Amino acid sequence: MRSDKSPEMEGNGGAGAGATEWRISRASARGAPLADAGSMSIRAVLGRVFSSVDESGPRPMLMLGSGDPTGCACFRPPPEAEDAIVDALRSGEHNGYSPTVGVLSARRAIAEYLSRDLPYQLSPDDIYLTAGCCQAIDVMISVLAQPGSNILLPKPGFPLYESRTMFSNLEARHFNLIPDRGWEADLESVEALADENTVAMVIVNPSNPCGSVYSHDHLAKIAETARKLGIIIIADEVYDHLAFGNKPFIPMGIFADMVPVITVGSISKRWLVPGWRLGWIAMCDLNCILKEAKVDKSIESYINITNDPATFIQVYAFTIY
Ligand SMILES: Cc1ncc(COP(=O)(O)O)c(C=O)c1O
Repeated sequence: MRSDKSPEMEGNGGAGAGATEWRISRASARGAPLADAGSMSIRAVLGRVFSSVDESGPRPMLMLGSGDPTGCACFRPPPEAEDAIVDALRSGEHNGYSPTVGVLSARRAIAEYLSRDLPYQLSPDDIYLTAGCCQAIDVMISVLAQPGSNILLPKPGFPLYESRTMFSNLEARHFNLIPDRGWEADLESVEALADENTVAMVIVNPSNPCGSVYSHDHLAKIAETARKLGIIIIADEVYDHLAFGNKPFIPMGIFADMVPVITVGSISKRWLVPGWRLGWIAMCDLNCILKEAKVDKSIESYINITNDPATFIQVYAFTIY
């Protein structure tokens, strides 16, 4: 950047004589933890890669870096979805702020959508709307992080979990996914890694980056292990129902009678609209363990001080099922 300051003004904030010592926190001055955490995100890595690509080069570029279906022109949302958004906008009724937890009708629609695959009915009160699944992850990590605590993450996994835990000073401990067993979680290592400071384990099913889909049997084993260890499960199901092959998608929430499950998801992938930024947190808490620990109140408090998805996009949730 070019500076128009005279040499004598450089380095003292332009205040004339005497250097000012700015009281900027040392963490920001070092760039950590924000810079370290942010540089690990998929978008940051892609930004670095694309900044060195010569677009006029002879070879076409294939966008394989992020799960953005809109990269392919054939993937458009159905016209009904686009019409729903246009109608919501034109009605003039959704230009205001929404409740921080989300518009009630949208929470009800998502509760009903998720309940179709569950042996019980979620209520709208179990659902919190977020700006995509990323914000759902952000909320959950922020709510669960306490000094000295740790979280169990799958390896390989989705890098946002690493960045977010690093930013919250939550220690990440990694359990392997085993390639020879269809990328199932190594539950022996989960048991070995967990201790009294473990706040949760994360599973991503269907898996990014492995593409695997867990069987009912394996999900049951995960639930048994988590119950034995007394840890809750964060089930990232942003790819729900995008299951190839002959294994159907089964939500972790079907085991909510054994273990508290917090499901995070969004309309980004299945509905082909990651730019619309609508996601959710669903508390599958049949034994009210999360409620007794006031996790619901912590989620609400955190959501009260962060951004919510655009109101007219929330109204679209009516049309997802
Ligand atoms: C496993 C996983 N979780 C969460 C997200 C973020 O989803 P969203 O775009 O809805 O924020 C992604 C996006 O690629 C993902 O792969």
